[in-house]
Amino acid sequence: MNAQPLEGKTAFFTGGSRGIGAAIVRRLALQGASVTFTYAAAADAAEALVGDVLAAGGLAHAVRADSANAQALAAAIDAAAAAHGRLDILVNNAGVITHGPIDDLPVEEFDRVFAINVRAVYAGTRAAVKHMGEGGSVITVGSIVADRSGFPGTAIYSASKGAIKSMTRGFARDLGPRGITVNNVQPGPIATDMNPAYVKDLVLPLIPLGRMGQADEVAAMVAYLAGPEARFTTGASLTVDGGFMS
Ligand SMILES: NC(=O)c1ccc[n+]([C@@H]2O[C@H](COP(=O)([O-])OP(=O)(O)OC[C@H]3O[C@@H](n4cnc5c(N)ncnc54)[C@H](OP(=O)(O)O)[C@@H]3O)[C@@H](O)[C@H]2O)c1
Repeated sequence: MNAQPLEGKTAFFTGGSRGIGAAIVRRLALQGASVTFTYAAAADAAEALVGDVLAAGGLAHAVRADSANAQALAAAIDAAAAAHGRLDILVNNAGVITHGPIDDLPVEEFDRVFAINVRAVYAGTRAAVKHMGEGGSVITVGSIVADRSGFPGTAIYSASKGAIKSMTRGFARDLGPRGITVNNVQPGPIATDMNPAYVKDLVLPLIPLGRMGQADEVAAMVAYLAGPEARFTTGASLTVDGGFMS
């Protein structure tokens, strides 16, 4: 078993400063990839993470790029590819949640969430695959809410993750002939800033394994999909949810 399965690979991903994204940065860098990640606001957290990765002997670079701005995202991807000569891995991780009844959430909220959770996945993937060759991997972080909302007030967020699931299948058809795999990781409830304490109380009784997931448990699935052992897996949506959907 190769301890550095991503040695020499170049990875770009969105939303690496905190939560699941930060765990993916650490894991991919530990496995040998050179990582560039974006953040929206948390510059201090992003720079601290870069420092941690460099101190551990890895390679990481942080860049501020709002996923809602498709041009800024594409420019950041082009710059990373130019710096490394190519891209091997794209992880579309940045996402925002919204929650509330239809009477309270205006149409503008739909547009805001879709710009980050869906439009940026299209824009980022479109920009990244120009720099990818045979063996490239695109991985998007969706959610189990694509398959089952579970609670009231989740229509917009659930729809955004459902769109990602469909887009993954479409991209797999488009990019398979170029030797690029495209997959969707669907976490269940994970202990990050996205989930306040009341969410934990709500979901714990519904998780057979009896606990929230850890960000690194999602990162492990992403690393597998980015690695050499997943080359026949494409168009898939893989769940990491402690049995929530079972
Ligand atoms: N936590 C869960 O239970 C769970 C479950 C299913 C799916 N997910 C999905 O997993 C992904 C990561 O979630 P998380 O729990 O790690 O969230 P989080 O802790 O809130 O972190 C979100 C990350 O995305 C970045 N981000 C947010 N908006 C952005 C924007 N407009 N442009 C660029 N970056 C942006 C943030 O950057 P800043 O630090 O700069 O704000 C941060 O790095 C999301 O797609 C989410 O929908 C999470």
